[in-house]
Amino acid sequence: MRPIVVDPSRRRAAITRLQQVKGQLPTWSELAEPGPGGCSHLSAIDPDAPDPANLWRVHWFNDTSRTRRSEIPAHLVLPRELTGVDAPIVVLIGRHFPMIAAHKVLAAYACLVPRLVTGQFDPGSDRAVWPSTGNYCRGGVAISRILGCRGVAVLPAGMSRERFDWLSKWVADPADIIRTPGTESNVKEIYDRCAELAQDPDNVILNQFSEFANYLIHYRCTGHAFDRVFSHLKTAHRGYRLAAFVSATGSAGTIAAGDYLKTMHRARTVAVEALECPTMLRNGYGEHNIQGIGDKHIPLIHNVMNTDVVVGVSDRTSDALNHLFNSDVGRRYLTVRRRIDPNLVRQFDDVGVSGLANIVASIKLARHLELGPDDVVMTVATDGAAMYATERRSYEERRYPDGFDEINTGEVTGRYLDAIADDHVLELSHGERTRIFNLGYYTWVEQQGVSLEDFDRRKDQRFWQGLVETIPEWDRLIDEFNEEVGHVAGRRVS
Ligand SMILES: Cc1ncc(COP(=O)(O)O)c(C=O)c1O
Repeated sequence: MRPIVVDPSRRRAAITRLQQVKGQLPTWSELAEPGPGGCSHLSAIDPDAPDPANLWRVHWFNDTSRTRRSEIPAHLVLPRELTGVDAPIVVLIGRHFPMIAAHKVLAAYACLVPRLVTGQFDPGSDRAVWPSTGNYCRGGVAISRILGCRGVAVLPAGMSRERFDWLSKWVADPADIIRTPGTESNVKEIYDRCAELAQDPDNVILNQFSEFANYLIHYRCTGHAFDRVFSHLKTAHRGYRLAAFVSATGSAGTIAAGDYLKTMHRARTVAVEALECPTMLRNGYGEHNIQGIGDKHIPLIHNVMNTDVVVGVSDRTSDALNHLFNSDVGRRYLTVRRRIDPNLVRQFDDVGVSGLANIVASIKLARHLELGPDDVVMTVATDGAAMYATERRSYEERRYPDGFDEINTGEVTGRYLDAIADDHVLELSHGERTRIFNLGYYTWVEQQGVSLEDFDRRKDQRFWQGLVETIPEWDRLIDEFNEEVGHVAGRRVS
C-alpha cells in the first residue's frame, strides 16, 4: 500500500463517519511520542470503553492506572537473583494498552488507518476482517466498534477462553467470530478462511502477516518506546549497552522494533519461536501453547535478513512458569525461599505466556553470548497473565490433580527456571538467513499470489529503509484527513 489517495469518495465516507462518531485519528508519530496533555477529556474516559478518545491511548506511555500518560513506558527490570544471568533483562509491558489490555491494538489501528486515509475502506459499508491468533483480532474488533463498522474476528478455535469471552462482548453479531480449525500453529487455515471471505467485495481483509503498516508502526512506536526506556536506564547506569532485542514472532510486527534499535544502538535482533514448532530453527512444524506466536510460516513483513539470532523455547517451560509466577504458593516460594522482591513477583501479573517465553529466550541468549552486567537485553510482555487464568486451571488439573504444593514449586523452579541453559540458540549466518527467507516463498508466492519480484525485493535492506521513509507521508495523510473531519472533542491537546 502506498501513501496516495486511491478513492476520494470512499475517503469522504470515512471522514463523514469520523465526524459522526466525533473522533479523529492520531498520527503514527503522535502515538510514538504522545503529548503530555493527552486528549483534552481523556482522564474521564474509561480505558476499556469503545470511545474514539481511546484511540489516543493506543501507545506505550499509559501508566498503570491506564488513565494517565507516564513519562517512561511501563517496564520491569529482572535482576540476577531471578534470571541467574548478569545481564539485566528489561521487559516492556503491553498490558496498559486500552480496551484489550494488549499491544496488538496498536497493530490493528495501523493496519486500518492507511485504508481510511487513502479511501480504501468505507466504515459504512465495508466489513473489516481481522485474521489472528487472538489479540490482533480483539484489537481490530475494538477499533471497528469505535468506528461503528462491522469487525470480523478470524481465529483458531483452540485459543484461550478469555479471548473468546472478550470477543463475545465486543462483536456486533456472534457470527462475526469465526473459529478456524486447530490452535496456535494453524495459520494456513486462517488464510484459507480469509480467501473465502475475500470473495465478498464488502469484506476487507486486514492481514497482519503481510500488511507493512504492522512493520512500520512497531518500527516507529515500539522501537521508540524501547529506546526511551533504555535512555532512562542509562541515566543511572552510564556504562549500559543495548546488547539485544528479543521478540517472539507471530505476525513479526513487534520484531520490527529490532530494526529501529539496531539503527540506534547496533543491538542484535533475536526472534523467538516454540521448540514444539521449530520453523525458523529447523524448517519444522508442530503444535504448541505459546499463544500469540503463529507458526509454520514466515510472515511477509518479517525482515529476516536483518535478524541475528533465533531462540527456541519449549511451551513446557512457559506453561510451568505461568503456573509458578501466578499461583499463591509459587509466589510465596519465590519471595520467601528465593528472596525475590515481592513487588517484582507481583508485577508478573503483567506478563502473559509469550512474555514468559521471551524472558526465557533472553536468559538463554545472555548465557549463550556470555553477556555481562552492562549488557542490557530488552524484551516484551505483549499481554498480561489474566488472559491465561483458564489455561493455568487446566494445567493444574492435568499435571497436579492433587494440588500444586510447595514441593512442586521447588521442583518447577529447579527444572524450568534455574536450569535454563543456552540450548536451541542459533546465531544466523548469511546461509541460515537465506534458508529462513526462502521458506516464506511457499506461503507468499505459491499460496498467496505475491509476485516473485515483490517477494525477493525484501532481501535488500534498502526495501525496508524505503518503507520507513514513508512514515512522514502517512502522518501527513492522517493530518489532512483530520483537518477535513474538523474540530472534535476527541482531538489531542498538546
Ligand atoms: C500474546 C502475544 N504475544 C506475541 C505476539 C506476537 O507479536 P507479533 O504478531 O507482533 O509478532 C502476539 C501477536 O498476536 C500475541 O498476541
